[in-house]
Amino acid sequence: MITQENFENTKNLLKIHDQCHLLAFWPELNPTQKQTLLTQIEQLDWAQIDYWVENLVKKTTTPALPDGLAPASFYDAEPADTEQQRKYAQALNLGKELISAGKVAAFVVAGGQGTRLGFDGPKGDFRISPVNDKTLFQLFAETIAAVSKTYQTLCPWYIMTSSLNHAETREIFRSNDYYGLDEKYVFIFEQGTLPNFGLDGKILLADKANIARSPDGHGGSLKALYRSGALEDMKKRGVELLSYFQVDNPLINIFDPLFIGLHALDQAEMSSKAVIKTGPKEKVGNFCLVDGSLTVIEYSDLPDHLAEKRNADGSLTFQLGSIAIHIISTSFVERLNAKGFSLPLHKAVKKIPHIDQHGNPVEPTEPNGIKLETFVFDAVPLASKSIILQTLRSQEFAPTKNATGVDSVETSRQMMVARAADWLESASVPIRKKPDGSPDCLIEIAPSFALQKEDVKAKLDQIPKIKPGDKIYLA
Ligand code: UTP
Repeated sequence: MITQENFENTKNLLKIHDQCHLLAFWPELNPTQKQTLLTQIEQLDWAQIDYWVENLVKKTTTPALPDGLAPASFYDAEPADTEQQRKYAQALNLGKELISAGKVAAFVVAGGQGTRLGFDGPKGDFRISPVNDKTLFQLFAETIAAVSKTYQTLCPWYIMTSSLNHAETREIFRSNDYYGLDEKYVFIFEQGTLPNFGLDGKILLADKANIARSPDGHGGSLKALYRSGALEDMKKRGVELLSYFQVDNPLINIFDPLFIGLHALDQAEMSSKAVIKTGPKEKVGNFCLVDGSLTVIEYSDLPDHLAEKRNADGSLTFQLGSIAIHIISTSFVERLNAKGFSLPLHKAVKKIPHIDQHGNPVEPTEPNGIKLETFVFDAVPLASKSIILQTLRSQEFAPTKNATGVDSVETSRQMMVARAADWLESASVPIRKKPDGSPDCLIEIAPSFALQKEDVKAKLDQIPKIKPGDKIYLA
């Protein structure tokens, strides 16, 4: 119930922080709306808001990069020498043991808005597979089922959504019968939000009774895992490691025993996979050492002279691109939350629908406000130990960000077909190519057929002769 004192306190709070307009439509609200608005105001992080306004929202300059950036070291995709060969073999065995023991869970972040894709609905429900038109969620579910079968275990799956798509995502899983997975092993939870600001630093109202807010970025996952009870659930199940991935990457190798094993052998808290960048300014984060601590620097923040810098052999000095694939120890998430932590906020100037001072809806055609977000890779420097494993883009990274062009539905599907063809060719199955080198057919390999290249060889008798123009689905 709202008391006069309660209301006066909120009014004073807003006055102190120069945000009084949030109560501008108070007399027009009904009691429920009043309660909603007061609760939303109370829940804002008032200790931080003035700082955000001055240092992020209104600031047009970006903070200077620390001096002395150095390239990060990493494990090669293939072991470099016999000593490493031994270590990779040991890691592979350890990774397999950890998966079999049920200590590894899949963790997908799916709370984004997917603005660039322009798909109406949670991105995980987007149909991506080249022959059978499966959705991203279905591909991940089939992978988890196939891994569970291979390792004779039940791998849990944690799915982070946001206020934008939580109810819809739950409904998608329910109506698809959890894609054949045991519902008790699928944990769907919602991430937090942050308020949206006008360019003048005023918090925007979505309508007369609601503050305009947006999801707090994939970095919000580290708090949401804790607050939602997901971490508690992991403890009960004995889950110690999370395989973190993004919802838009259909090539993800969710349970990679080598990556898991190297992380565990080196007693890392948060580890990453990286690809060699296609060029100096590729739009991926750069793994760098800052004062000896592993850090991801956004492509837009890496100065040209460093981005272009080359080693004696011609390779880029800062060659490791982040592809948002991590192993995260649950004890790390627990440690961060137990002592309290915050990740740096990043700002994005966006088109944000809201109401103006007269209560009229504004549907902007140009960017008009600021959204604040945290990024999961900013937790890497907080880890006591962190390793990087290089991987091949063609095998593991095909982000479906855009409807067309770079990192699009089309490139993602092409990469799925190319990887399937590569797996078949490596088992000596002939595939005819077009003049541009791409397969002259469509192939889809279901996770139930093969989880990795090596699995194909054992199933050669199930593969038909493939002719140009064929559409082949292997399951
Ligand atoms: P992106 O940075 O690609 O953002 O998210 P997006 O929202 O999906 O797409 P655009 O930028 O609007 O076009 C990378 C991954 O992080 C998740 C997304 O769902 C995706 O898997 N994410 C992003 C969250 O889970 N929460 C967020 O707040 C932001």
